[in-house]
Amino acid sequence: MNWDEVYQTAKQWTLEAGEILRKATKESVNVEYKTSVADLVTNKDKEIEQFFIDHIKTKYPAHFFLGEEGLASDQEYNAEKEIVWIVDPIDGTTNFVHQKRNFAISVGIYEKGKPRIGIVYDPIADEMFHALTGEGAYLNEQLLPKLADKKLEEANISICQLWLVPNDKVDHSIFIEMVQKARGTRYLGSAALEIVYVACGRLETYFDFRLSPWDIAGGMVILGEVGGVMKTLENQPFSVFSPETTIFSNNKVLSEIQETIITKNR
Ligand code: IPD
Ligand code: CA
Ligand code: CA
Repeated sequence: MNWDEVYQTAKQWTLEAGEILRKATKESVNVEYKTSVADLVTNKDKEIEQFFIDHIKTKYPAHFFLGEEGLASDQEYNAEKEIVWIVDPIDGTTNFVHQKRNFAISVGIYEKGKPRIGIVYDPIADEMFHALTGEGAYLNEQLLPKLADKKLEEANISICQLWLVPNDKVDHSIFIEMVQKARGTRYLGSAALEIVYVACGRLETYFDFRLSPWDIAGGMVILGEVGGVMKTLENQPFSVFSPETTIFSNNKVLSEIQETIITKNR
């Protein structure tokens, strides 16, 4: 497989898909509820997913597709043996609908379960984060430096407010000390963007406890290239195909966080 060619092609398709979404922010979009009123999907989520499926089918018929909207769910494959494109057509659909910004297209290409290519594109800011494994990560044309050591007191931590109040996934009280010690907390509402913001130093850590492969596949390749760490709350590695509790972080900041939360979580 000529990975450089796939990389260039995937970036080109993502730019084209971004153009569709940029235009869509000036039109009216069709919004539906999926599992609840907080779980939105638009005609544009489906259109972008179909755009990738059609392009991949034509140019790379041996490749498989995994997307949030499930439009290629008729495919049967073993991710450990195949090349799979893992795509979130719009990550941050609520932001897309309410704010018309702070959303992204996320593309991760994995071969036999191993990361090859990651792309996260914010079409409104015209920022494309991208990486080919082993070749470094970029923000548009600029190579991102490896993450420098930072302290928790200098860190901005992204954590959804949901995890800081009683919830059914984690004991929220374990985060109190971390929140008090950090410089600040943020929550953007697009997992893909939050992961690449850790990669470029806009955030130091991002927590989420109910993500899916399409939310993280692109960002994981990019964050891996700059030396970021990806662990569960129990300080274990996780697979892109089965994320559980996920932390994406600057290594040094995560060690300090572990002191405050992970020990309390045992
Ligand atoms: C969601 C966003 C959000 C995260 C959710 C995801 P969607 O993706 O990434 O920030 O907290 O868990 O499902 O639905 O906008 O593609
Ligand atoms: Ca998503
Ligand atoms: Ca989505």
